[in-house]
Amino acid sequence: MAENNQTAVAGKVAAKPKPAVPGAAKPVAPTTAKPAAASQGGVYKPPVERTDSNPYKDSRINALNEWLRERFYMVIPIVDYLKKKEVPQHRHSVWYYFGGLTLFFFILQVLTGLLLMQYYKPTEAEAFASFVFIQQKVPFGWLIRQVHAWSANAMILMAFIHMFSTFFMKAYRKPRELMWVSGFVLFVLSLGFGFTGYLLPWNELAFFATQVGTEVPKVAPGGAFMVSILRGGEEISGETLTRMFSMHVVLLPGILMITLAAHLMLVQILGTSAPIGYKESGRITGYEKFFPDFLAKDAIGWLIGFALLIYLSIVFPWEIGVKANALAPAPIGIKPEWYFWGQFLLLKDFSFPGGELLAILLFTSAAVVWALVPFIDKKASREVRSPYFTMFGLFLCIAFLVYTFRVFLMYGF
Ligand code: HEM
Repeated sequence: MAENNQTAVAGKVAAKPKPAVPGAAKPVAPTTAKPAAASQGGVYKPPVERTDSNPYKDSRINALNEWLRERFYMVIPIVDYLKKKEVPQHRHSVWYYFGGLTLFFFILQVLTGLLLMQYYKPTEAEAFASFVFIQQKVPFGWLIRQVHAWSANAMILMAFIHMFSTFFMKAYRKPRELMWVSGFVLFVLSLGFGFTGYLLPWNELAFFATQVGTEVPKVAPGGAFMVSILRGGEEISGETLTRMFSMHVVLLPGILMITLAAHLMLVQILGTSAPIGYKESGRITGYEKFFPDFLAKDAIGWLIGFALLIYLSIVFPWEIGVKANALAPAPIGIKPEWYFWGQFLLLKDFSFPGGELLAILLFTSAAVVWALVPFIDKKASREVRSPYFTMFGLFLCIAFLVYTFRVFLMYGF
């Protein structure tokens, strides 16, 4: 069947050679070669030369294309630009896929979150029951909830990998400083999503973990005020749930969308960077067209990610637990989500007098240096290697992994 189609197209192309245009390249004469089927041991090969560059010239696809071009002519330069965009290829190019993966999981979060919102009720009395209803009664509600929970973790994991890989490739260097800063804001917002979403099921674990988590800023000057703003009062209550919900579905998505738009626009305008010295030393093996080649590979990654999410949702579902009760004793082994384990253990390790404040100061200074690294690492911006910054990144990465693993050993997952 495909063979017949190809023969038909090839036949049509060969029958209508284009008239010569003055100054244009001479049209190639239609091949007189006999169909290759006979010479290739039965395998059909279409003629190599085409006389018509647009095989869809008279088709509906082309008509639609023309229709759109007439109406959206102002975006044609952008589309043309994207068509020309290229991604450098070298032995570390695999890391270029993690930004797209983070984006994919974020899109899934928005879609599944919108569906969950149709049934979720953000009040102290109804939140837990509405989760049980979604999980047990709504058709495919369990799947949507599980995908939302797993995809949140996947998004943060991908953001971690994306952040560290762009750091080690020094992709933050001039002129990409604002890509890094906007990325850092996205990362903090992603953690904010995790934190505010955790309380929404209003189960015991979430209740007490939020109580511990929102206690932390209290040791810092002005921290008590911040805690009361976060909690909507002195203690965790229905007020806290309302605040967490509004932050989770309105405030954070709003800021994230604007920041994400800026981040992605900068990615498109400035293009993809290559590590320092790669171009000069010939370690770039080629350039790949962003559209459609790189994007097609991105899509393969997304499909694998999606399949993995479905697998995890079915085989390792997140539990609902029991409804929160402020008067019940806190369950033992309360800990936050894995992406906060580092800070959690650091605070525990520094549990001597004044230690918690010291831990917060240490952590905050590291985060500020991290956020402003493109402006501090002047060497990288001059295209000179900056090993001290690489070591700083390695230190943070290893410290995070070690601390996370220690919490895992102490408490399990
Ligand atoms: C919601 C979170 C994020 C999304 C959806 C996102 C998305 C993307 C995408 C699609 C790209 C282009 C492909 C690539 O190079 O991977 C990119 C590039 C980049 N991102 Fe992000 N990103 C996020 C968070 C971050 C974070 C946390 C940082 C660092 C603090 C960051 C820094 C960068 C930099 C520097 C580039 C340019 C890479 C280069 O030119 O080689 N991004 N981002």
